[in-house]
Amino acid sequence: MKQDLLTIEDLDRKEIEEILHKAKEFCERRERNDLRGGVLASCFFEPSTRTRLSFETAMLRLGGSVIGFSEAGSTSSQKGEILEDTMRVVGSFADVIVLRHFEAGAAKKAAKATKTPVVNAGDGANEHPSQTLVDLFTVWISQGKIDGLRLAIMGDLKYGRTVHSLVKALSLYQVKIDFVSPKELTLPEDLKEMLKGKDVACSYHEDIEAAIKDADVVYTTRVQKERLQGEVLHHRYVLKKEMLAGCRHNMKILHPLPRVDELDREIDHTPFAYYFEQAQYGVPVRMALLASLLKKEKI
Ligand code: NCD
Repeated sequence: MKQDLLTIEDLDRKEIEEILHKAKEFCERRERNDLRGGVLASCFFEPSTRTRLSFETAMLRLGGSVIGFSEAGSTSSQKGEILEDTMRVVGSFADVIVLRHFEAGAAKKAAKATKTPVVNAGDGANEHPSQTLVDLFTVWISQGKIDGLRLAIMGDLKYGRTVHSLVKALSLYQVKIDFVSPKELTLPEDLKEMLKGKDVACSYHEDIEAAIKDADVVYTTRVQKERLQGEVLHHRYVLKKEMLAGCRHNMKILHPLPRVDELDREIDHTPFAYYFEQAQYGVPVRMALLASLLKKEKI
C-alpha cells in the first residue's frame, strides 16, 4: 500500500478489498489498541460533520489521539501561511494527517510538503477516496457483492467529489452504471472517457425513473452549490417515495450526506433507505484504513 491516500487510484482492487474485510471485523470489534500512542492530525479547511468525526472516532477507538482544527479561521492560513508550511509543521507533530481543503490538488500538495502520510478527506471538486471506501463497503454489505450489480448514480456528477472517486473505484468491478443528472451537471469528460476506455457499461439519463427501475443501488448526491460556476439549473432532481414503486426489492439508496432537498425524507422509513447505515460504516471503514496505513511499528 502507498503511504498516502490522495486519490482512490492509490489503491488497487486487492488493497480495497483488504480494507473492506478489515472494516467488517471492526464492525464486530470496535475497540482495538492497534494505534496506541499514535496521533492523528485532523485538518479541516472546509465544513464537515461525518468525515471529520468518523475519522476522529476511528483513531480514538484504535487507541490513538487526535489534534486538529475544524475551520480555516482558527489557523495561520488566516495570516497568509501557505498550505505547504502548515502541513510540514503539522506533519512533524503527528503520525497521519487527514486533510479537507477547498482546493483541488491540495492533498497532493500537502503530501509533497511532509513525509507523514496524508489522507485526502476531500479536495475541492476533485476526490474523496475514503468516502468511496465507505460507499463500496455499504454496497458490499447491503448486496453481498459488488461485481454484477447495476448502480444508478444521480445528482451533481460534475462537482461531486464523492462521485468522482466512486466512479474510478467502480471501474475496477463488473458493474453497470446509469448516470442521472441535469445536463449542466453531467460527469466530467475525462471520467466518461476513462469509463469508455475500460469498457464499463454506462448510460446517461435525464429521467430518474428510467434509471432507477433496474438498479440494485441508487447513489444520490446533493448539488454542490458552493462550487457552481454560474450554471443555471433548469431542472432539480428530487428522489421521491412514489418513484420507488416499481423498483427492485433488494434496491438500496445511498447518499454520502448531507442531503438537502434531493432525497425526500419520506423515504427514510422505507426498506430502500440505507444512507444512515452508510454514515455509520464511516467509523469501521476509517478504522480499517488507518490501521492499514499506520502499522503499529511505525508509531
Ligand atoms: C460529501 C463531501 O464533503 O464531499 N460529504 C461527505 O464527506 N460525506 C458530500 C457533500 O458535501 O455533498
